[in-house]
Amino acid sequence: MESQAFFIFFFSSFASLLSSTFLKFSIAGDTLASNQSLRDGDTLVSTSQRFELGFFSPGSSKFRYLGIWYKATPDIVVWVANRHNPITGLQGVLTISGNRSLVLLNGTQSIVWSSNLSRVEESPVAQLLDSGNLVLFGKTETYSDSFLWQSFDFPCNMRIPDLKMGENNRTSLDQYLTSWKSADDPSPGEFTYRVDNHGLPQLVLRMGSIKKYRTWVKLTFINLPLYNNPAFKTTLEFNNNRLIYIYEPYNSSVFTRLTLNESGVLQRYILNKKNTWDLMFTVPRDLCDSYGYCGPNGICRIYKSPLCECLKGFIPNSQQEWDVLDWSSGCVRSVPLDCQNGEGFVKVVQVKLPDLLEFRLNIGMSIKECEEECLKNCSCIAYANSNISGGGSGCLMWFGDLIDIRESFQDNSEQDIYIRLPASAIDSIHDSNNKKRLVKILLLSATLGILTLGTVCGCIIMKVKAKRRALNGKKESLELPLFDFTTIAAATSNFSDANMIGEGGFGPVYKGKLSTEQEIAVKRLSKGSGQGLEEFKNEVTSIAKLQHRNLVRLLGCCIQGEERMLIYEYMCNKSLNYFIYDQNRSTLLAWQKRFDIVMGIARGLLYLHQDSRLRIIHRDLKASNILLDNDLIPKISDFGLARIFEGEQICAKTKRVIGTYGYMSPEYAIDGKFSVKSDVFSLGVLLLEIVSGKRNRGFHHPDHHHNLLGHAWLLWNEDRALELMDACLKDSCVESQVQRCIQVGLLCVQKLPQDRPAMSSVVFMLGNEEAILPQPKQPGFFIERSSIDADTATRSEEFYRNGEVPITILDAR
Ligand SMILES: *[C@@H]1O[C@H](CO)[C@@H](O)[C@H](O)[C@H]1NC(C)=O
Ligand SMILES: *[C@@H]1O[C@H](CO)[C@@H](O)[C@H](O)[C@H]1NC(C)=O
Ligand SMILES: *[C@@H]1O[C@H](CO)[C@@H](O)[C@H](O)[C@H]1NC(C)=O
Ligand SMILES: *[C@@H]1O[C@H](CO)[C@@H](O)[C@H](O)[C@H]1NC(C)=O
Ligand SMILES: *[C@@H]1O[C@H](CO)[C@@H](O)[C@H](O)[C@H]1NC(C)=O
Ligand SMILES: *[C@@H]1O[C@H](CO)[C@@H](O)[C@H](O)[C@H]1NC(C)=O
Ligand SMILES: *[C@@H]1O[C@H](CO)[C@@H](O)[C@H](O)[C@H]1NC(C)=O
Ligand SMILES: *[C@@H]1O[C@H](CO)[C@@H](O)[C@H](O)[C@H]1NC(C)=O
Ligand SMILES: *[C@@H]1O[C@H](CO)[C@@H](O)[C@H](O)[C@H]1NC(C)=O
Repeated sequence: MESQAFFIFFFSSFASLLSSTFLKFSIAGDTLASNQSLRDGDTLVSTSQRFELGFFSPGSSKFRYLGIWYKATPDIVVWVANRHNPITGLQGVLTISGNRSLVLLNGTQSIVWSSNLSRVEESPVAQLLDSGNLVLFGKTETYSDSFLWQSFDFPCNMRIPDLKMGENNRTSLDQYLTSWKSADDPSPGEFTYRVDNHGLPQLVLRMGSIKKYRTWVKLTFINLPLYNNPAFKTTLEFNNNRLIYIYEPYNSSVFTRLTLNESGVLQRYILNKKNTWDLMFTVPRDLCDSYGYCGPNGICRIYKSPLCECLKGFIPNSQQEWDVLDWSSGCVRSVPLDCQNGEGFVKVVQVKLPDLLEFRLNIGMSIKECEEECLKNCSCIAYANSNISGGGSGCLMWFGDLIDIRESFQDNSEQDIYIRLPASAIDSIHDSNNKKRLVKILLLSATLGILTLGTVCGCIIMKVKAKRRALNGKKESLELPLFDFTTIAAATSNFSDANMIGEGGFGPVYKGKLSTEQEIAVKRLSKGSGQGLEEFKNEVTSIAKLQHRNLVRLLGCCIQGEERMLIYEYMCNKSLNYFIYDQNRSTLLAWQKRFDIVMGIARGLLYLHQDSRLRIIHRDLKASNILLDNDLIPKISDFGLARIFEGEQICAKTKRVIGTYGYMSPEYAIDGKFSVKSDVFSLGVLLLEIVSGKRNRGFHHPDHHHNLLGHAWLLWNEDRALELMDACLKDSCVESQVQRCIQVGLLCVQKLPQDRPAMSSVVFMLGNEEAILPQPKQPGFFIERSSIDADTATRSEEFYRNGEVPITILDAR
């Protein structure tokens, strides 16, 4: 009896010894069967060797954790099982307990972690999939969505492709990212990043319960190149306007991850060929992204200094704090709302809408109804469209303070908001505009002694009209001053030759000085342009509404009989061509300045293309149309002029090709087809010219007959792109930026318009060190050359049927 017991004991311990030895070697591949266990030192590896599961110690920690990491980069851990409960010592074991769940046991056989589930299945199997998902499924099941359990339902600090963030309606768990405590400690830190369906879907990054960053989901993810990279196309799933899931579908050729790091920054990485991780971008991007950076009712403008301003009708809550750049207490109304008649709204364009704290949403309302509704309720302080796609619909109304507004031209995720102002503030906005104008006109007129009743009447009529328009809600619409012919004649010494600074097909350009000492550039348009007076006024007014720091400002116009003139601000630093092509002057523009100029031009063009009211295609972007102000800030000039003179030629095709050879895209020069992408082509040429200091047209190289584009393309393919750079930039350049400019330039001049990036992508690619740029394809027009000697014909007349040559102010010849 005793011996039998002994025998049984001996046998069973022998068997267990045997089996454990056997098991140890049996762990191979990606699955763990229900009769197997995984010990510290063993690992599961997914079929394509992408991911590995096993025990590890993060950083300098002495604890052991069960986790999943990239096989190629074991220090990047994508998931941790026992993040709350570390194991001491190397005795950890992962097994499948009974028929139910995965359990992790420590040296004394206590359960440290388990995957709990409700269903019992015979001999379930755990498998590490190539997506990085650890799944448990029953014998009867094939790989499918009906896993008994999957690690993807329990995200840690990392979102990898196929891992869904949002409301899991199967497990009714909210799936979100939680940072690690530190690099040595994977237990949950204080930062979270999750879907927030309060009102409209947003993604919110919090520290504890404090919001640090938020982004509107629909607009951002549908429009931004940032999130729509082919490598990780973000996918959104909605159910009744609630965001259920956000994720990137699995793509076997790409390793990418979004990590919420220990300091609360989201980092998007992608694995390069050398098996190291490239940082593509981080979020928050800048100070204006910090939640509520400018306090209540403040607006953050990243290109302005200081960054924060109060919204119209508001003043700093504490001027002392504001003066020392402490924005936190924000702004208060300068005059309280009294809900009397005459209250109205001021439109603030292109902003990230404020957070939804106290709000009302009505997706059925039009913007007009929204305004009326908001006006009716005394505590409604702002409204906006809730859905800007398809021309705008829906109504969002805010009550209480407006928090976290930023202005940005970088992406498409902004829209307009209308802010309520008391009657007095609305009047004062207009009075101050009108007063300024009146003073100007009076001054001018008085000095010149031509104070006629007519001028004053005209003025008054304009103002009354403007006021009426203003009351219809377009508070910011800008009335265009009409200059008197005699004023302009006096300012330009009666259009003397000495004052002429340029001449083009549209007529000569004169420099002038008003009696207020303001310098102006006057474009005197040729007579007989065939355009009616009303048409001209309309066009000019719409151009006058374009306001951007990188566009030259139209100050007014002058109409007298047949005579039409446009009055612009005068730029003292002439134009870009004056500098970059000139051997001596090019040294004045060091690399950082050039890069700023490149960014400025790109932003200006983005504004032209994307301004929802007009959508202007420039059609004649070139170095001589980039004017430089006192601070060498670039200003695109001549925008929309082509439009004015093409009244009868609408949309995408024209018989009158107006442009400048060397900058024109193939489809435009050959077929007369133009679109925003033809401007992108011209911008690409300009980029390469700014980097190289050479003209595209007129470029000569001893080794080949290509133009500048062809030369850049050859160098690019030989990995010698940097040789394109102007020698005078050698000391000042930042190589990565130069390289980036060249690559973006080449992307812009690709032959097919559909291959060229949109301006929003161009601005993004130029401005973000981490952005991944596609490889450019062959440029258009890279070998074509003109038979005309380039030095004498920088503008080719053959392209201007009817003899039109685009106007060029300050062209240095
Ligand atoms: C474990 O189970 C599988 C089937 O589920 C079986 O083929 C294998 O022989 C078993 N191994 C051991 C050591 O019991
Ligand atoms: C597993 O399931 C089978 C069939 O359902 C059952 O016979 C067996 O006892 C179960 N094993 C455990 C450990 O629960
Ligand atoms: C295993 O875990 C239990 C409970 O958490 C703990 O009391 C025990 O000390 C652990 N054993 C080892 C060897 O760490
Ligand atoms: C899973 O088990 C843990 C304890 O291990 C428990 O806290 C948790 O509530 C369980 N979850 C579910 C969904 O049963
Ligand atoms: C879960 O979400 C899907 C859409 O993602 C929906 O079709 C389904 O009805 C939802 N199930 C439940 C139980 O809500
Ligand atoms: C996978 O990624 C590559 C590289 O970015 C991309 O070209 C390809 O279109 C992607 N495939 C799918 C199915 O999205
Ligand atoms: C988090 O990411 C930001 C931006 O990449 C970086 O500056 C910071 O050092 C990171 N924090 C940690 C703890 O790694
Ligand atoms: C104004 O709107 C608020 C918030 O929706 C609401 O509580 C209040 O009753 C409204 N007041 C009037 C007069 O409609
Ligand atoms: C937003 O507007 C677009 C175009 O009108 C429409 O297709 C879409 O369904 C709207 N979305 C919501 C949430 O109303």
